[in-house]
Amino acid sequence: MPAPDAFPTRYGPWALVAGAAVGLGAEYARQLAARGLAVAMIDRDAGALEATAAEIRAGGGAVRTLALDLARPDLGDAVRAATADLEIGLLVYNAAIGTVSPFLEVPTAGMQAMLDVNCRGPLLLAHALLPAMVARRRGGIVLMSSMAADFGSAQLAVYAATKAFDLVLAEALWAELREHGVDVLAVQPGSTRTPGWQASQPPELRGPGPHVMEPPDVVREALAALGVEPTVVPGEANRQGAQMLATLPRRDAIALMSRITATLLPTARTVA
Ligand SMILES: NC(=O)c1ccc[n+]([C@@H]2O[C@H](COP(=O)([O-])OP(=O)(O)OC[C@H]3O[C@@H](n4cnc5c(N)ncnc54)[C@H](OP(=O)(O)O)[C@@H]3O)[C@@H](O)[C@H]2O)c1
Repeated sequence: MPAPDAFPTRYGPWALVAGAAVGLGAEYARQLAARGLAVAMIDRDAGALEATAAEIRAGGGAVRTLALDLARPDLGDAVRAATADLEIGLLVYNAAIGTVSPFLEVPTAGMQAMLDVNCRGPLLLAHALLPAMVARRRGGIVLMSSMAADFGSAQLAVYAATKAFDLVLAEALWAELREHGVDVLAVQPGSTRTPGWQASQPPELRGPGPHVMEPPDVVREALAALGVEPTVVPGEANRQGAQMLATLPRRDAIALMSRITATLLPTARTVA
């Protein structure tokens, strides 16, 4: 990772955070602003977006909000037009839809929405913003994947497959773009205490706990890995868990993961 004072030079002056109203996206916006970047924040929840933006402004940060749906068909053009006057040096694609449900109970429209927000969105925004970064020979892209990307698991079939897409996309871009001066990182969090994660948990398990990370710690580790590694699993316990799973035959790893994910609360829209 570049030294903290080099961060705006390497990735500034503007960062774009997609899915920035709450949870990990809001925390990316806070930490990037604290490190000297101006932040363009996208979310469909205009009220929560403005509340987080106001908090960052009150702390002295420069932000612009864009209330839009990341599933819209013309996403790349819309974001390009709304940010044409900004020099964007960092894209953090954070938003995801993470339906927890047996596969056959996921409506077709729900599957399409997951593909749009989790896969098509990062493709379109990377494609829209990368040419200027490559021309400047500096910049960065952070794509949010998940520990769920490594193995299929019950109730997360579509979500986990979209997160595998994000992981492989980021790794490929890391390989292609490093010679152009652009750093790419896939982040694979485990359970992290955000509104989306809390919705997948029974009420008594929604508080802080030994098996759940807090968003500031996840984002700190992610930003520390940008420019150093192609992927990061935040949290020592999560890294040990991922390493243990990787030693198992795949059928055993899938069964073990599925015993855990089968206990998640089925819900129409959560992020796991
Ligand atoms: N939290 C975890 O345990 C965990 C674990 C592994 C990976 N991750 C990954 O980390 C990322 C962030 O997760 P999180 O838990 O912070 O999520 P979250 O709490 O649900 O927040 C996601 C944000 O993205 C917004 N968003 C969703 N769909 C959108 C759309 N179509 N257009 C615009 N904004 C949209 C959400 O708005 P709405 O509230 O209106 O939907 C919300 O503000 C995701 O990529 C997730 O896959 C999270």
